[in-house]
Amino acid sequence: MTELTLYNGVKIPQVGLGVFRAENGKETSQAVKWALEAGYRHIDTATVYKNEESVGVGIKESGVKREDIFLTTKVWNTDIRQGRTREAFEESLRLLGTDYVDLYLIHWPVEGREAAWRVLEDEYRKGRIRAIGVSNFHRHHLEELDQVAEIAPMVDQIEAHPYFSNQELIDYCHSRKMAVEVWSPLGGGRVDLLGDETLLKLADKYQKTPAQIVIRWDIQRGVVVLPKSVHEERIRSNLDVFDFELTAEDMALIHSMNRNKRVGSDPDNFKF
Ligand code: A2P
Repeated sequence: MTELTLYNGVKIPQVGLGVFRAENGKETSQAVKWALEAGYRHIDTATVYKNEESVGVGIKESGVKREDIFLTTKVWNTDIRQGRTREAFEESLRLLGTDYVDLYLIHWPVEGREAAWRVLEDEYRKGRIRAIGVSNFHRHHLEELDQVAEIAPMVDQIEAHPYFSNQELIDYCHSRKMAVEVWSPLGGGRVDLLGDETLLKLADKYQKTPAQIVIRWDIQRGVVVLPKSVHEERIRSNLDVFDFELTAEDMALIHSMNRNKRVGSDPDNFKF
């Protein structure tokens, strides 16, 4: 497993298990256990996914030591708007059954985010969060946050996949030493990305699956990739991406699939 190093020195495994839309209960705890068994050491959840409790159960039952796992959660929009970030953070820790998280993110750029950021900075200084960041922030949101932040975000977690490469924002984040994490890397099950002709051809060429080709592309372009699955075989195979390398031409070919087509909401226009 390759790792990236955040600007504060914290290491982050480059492939993490996403659990958006995994149901609280056995579905999530089992997925987390399968992932940890397969060698994942990075789990990405959020308050709004409503499965933090089962993520915690999965971690405990796996027998893998807490300190060997990179665990992320995110504060939800209503909590930010209501000035409840501190309480939301405490509740997440309680549900996850842990006394710290590795990464805590502002989930969307909603009103109240500057005050929320101060809470993240404070908990970071106290050592209860190892790295702080944002999610779904455009460049202009990051530049606005710069006006008030004492500690710059270490991460921006954004939508990106071959139909929405988001490369300009990724390059901007990298230019300011921020790491980028990508959500819906496989298209989130909302577009038939994995049946794309170009990916099928590459899969055949490398004797890998289309999902493995996409995950490898993300690894080679230097982002953290968070594929979601609740199926054991897919969870395993999505991590089996360290025994091959895409050529520069094939990297460019995948880049050329970009259609600027989101599967999720635009951070400049969302209603939740
Ligand atoms: P499931 O959880 O039923 O396996 P993303 O990571 O882009 O959010 O996409 C996740 C979607 O793709 C989910 O619907 C997930 O379904 C499915 N998925 C995850 N891994 C694979 C894979 N290796 N092959 C096919 N579909 C996959």
